[in-house]
Amino acid sequence: HRPKLLGISGSLRRDSFNTQILESIKQVIADRTDFDVFRLNEVPLYNQDLDVAPAIPGVAALRDAIAEADGVVIATPEFNYGIPGVLKNALDWASRPYGKAALIGKPVLTFSSSPAFTGGVRAQAQLNETLLAIGARLIVRPQTVIAEVHNKLQNGRLADTASLDFLIAGVNDLITESAQPARKAA
Ligand code: FNR
Repeated sequence: HRPKLLGISGSLRRDSFNTQILESIKQVIADRTDFDVFRLNEVPLYNQDLDVAPAIPGVAALRDAIAEADGVVIATPEFNYGIPGVLKNALDWASRPYGKAALIGKPVLTFSSSPAFTGGVRAQAQLNETLLAIGARLIVRPQTVIAEVHNKLQNGRLADTASLDFLIAGVNDLITESAQPARKAA
């Protein structure tokens, strides 16, 4: 079975460092996985009044993409010490329908990157907490935080080998976990 992974970037910015890193992962593991990068541009603001079946298009696309993936990689920037509203909003949609969300029990790896020395670590901690609330199967290993990211990309790809190797080790853990049978969330 060829693993199918989904990358979700918490940044809508065209030249987003986080999205570039997801594209770098895709390139490195292209020989052994299918890796799609999902853009959150079409996901509307969460409104429980609109959270009815059948799901509205932007939401259905997100939920279907997660459901079809064996594992998910979520990249987050840090905005004011937290995750961007865009990402939290998407995770709120993805956490529903309650008790039946595609993210429940789904293996998920997270990382953050930022031009700052702190690398978005606070946002990543917050992201992990949200995923615990949802009941995702969080890959717990030394967490990848990429600081001074603007100096580590070249031609739209993560060129810093230490960061890339560390991140790919996490992705390999995700692939291993994705091959395990689904467990019920705690
Ligand atoms: C930021 N940035 C930022 N960086 C950081 O490390 N900690 C922070 O708290 C913040 N806060 C923040 C707020 C807002 C509103 C913006 C727009 C930016 C800088 C941020 O890391 C930088 O813009 C990244 O380039 C954003 O990620 P992408 O778009 O490159 O993936």
